[in-house]
Amino acid sequence: MTINAATAGTGFSGLWRHWRNALLGDSRFRRFAARFAPTRAIARREAKAVFDLCAGFVYSQILYASLRTGLLDLLASAPRSIADVAAMTDLSPSSAARLCDAARVLGLADQLGDGRYVLGPRGAVIQSDAAIRAMIEHHAMFYRDLADPVALLRDPTKTGELGAFWRYAGGQTPDAGAAADYSKLMSGSIDLVANEILDAYPFQRHRHLMDVGGGEGAFVAAVAARHRGLSLTLVDLPAVAARAESKLAKIDSIRVVGADFRRESLPTGADIVTLVRVLHDHDDDVALALLRKIHAALPEGGTVVIGEPMADAASAETVGAAYFGFYFLAMGQGRARRAGEIEALLSQAGFKNARRHPTALPLQVGVVSATARTRV
Ligand SMILES: C[S@@+](CC[C@H](N)C(=O)[O-])C[C@H]1O[C@@H](n2cnc3c(N)ncnc32)[C@H](O)[C@@H]1O
Repeated sequence: MTINAATAGTGFSGLWRHWRNALLGDSRFRRFAARFAPTRAIARREAKAVFDLCAGFVYSQILYASLRTGLLDLLASAPRSIADVAAMTDLSPSSAARLCDAARVLGLADQLGDGRYVLGPRGAVIQSDAAIRAMIEHHAMFYRDLADPVALLRDPTKTGELGAFWRYAGGQTPDAGAAADYSKLMSGSIDLVANEILDAYPFQRHRHLMDVGGGEGAFVAAVAARHRGLSLTLVDLPAVAARAESKLAKIDSIRVVGADFRRESLPTGADIVTLVRVLHDHDDDVALALLRKIHAALPEGGTVVIGEPMADAASAETVGAAYFGFYFLAMGQGRARRAGEIEALLSQAGFKNARRHPTALPLQVGVVSATARTRV
């Protein structure tokens, strides 16, 4: 290993990486590794990983086409021949065969001995899960926004379709139509998230919970079903609060408040405040101001619980830095934070005793709680 401009001052780990990268960047070494029995499996796995990285956008578009053409639904109801698929999806037989074969290698479809297709293991999960389906459809917008990722990185203020979809981005106020579009998307995926948070944190210790940015109210409804004694308040922007009001009309214990937390203070009276998939939508200045308002609304010793996907989620690191990193870039604000970064914001806002509560699916949601410090 030599010290040069690329390695100077990088220490052992820099030197080691430089040596490894020089080796991997040498096509003769890669050819040797692919032929040498002890390294063959690693070489093939790495070559595939590099190819998948280059081709990932094609796989997502095949997934999108499998859903949009109705292929996954067709395969869920009966085994289908290529002729069936062609007739039912309005594709030519050769396009139907191309799509089925691509779906097969991606685990979306399986082929039977007689040549007909059924759902594959990944297809079975996706076809049956309304939240995943909605996310794939929603990604059409994200995909268009990412058509020129370099331009987006150069000028993050130039947001596209996602910035318009999440109408509160940039401090705008959504009208009824915009609120309906994004609230429906969020409601479609809240069940699993709500149950993870309810399993992770002991809400029965509290008497009054306020869910800020509570959307159409699916989370507070899930809390009401599990913890009947809790009083509940939901706060969201007026157009969203109106939707929550009509959806929650049957549950007496829930009060709905239409308010903009960027411009107004929060109602008092709760001894626990929840932020479910809310904090990551905002840049640090807005997130910190929100946590300070929550602190001001809580009594001493009151609790805040944050539930959202976190950037350092165990075995899901690509979700934070890569997926959410670019999702929030396209949206024009916000970022997935590491649990430690959320804890630092909580401490700056006046909270103490930050704690992480393990969830079964950290890819979906991580949970951090903290206690309001004694006021001086
Ligand atoms: C990503 S959604 C999450 C909704 C819900 N908590 C869930 O997990 O399904 C973020 C929510 O925060 C609300 N929100 C955004 N900015 C807000 C503001 N300034 N004041 C009040 N609510 C706001 C949005 O209207 C939206 O319902």
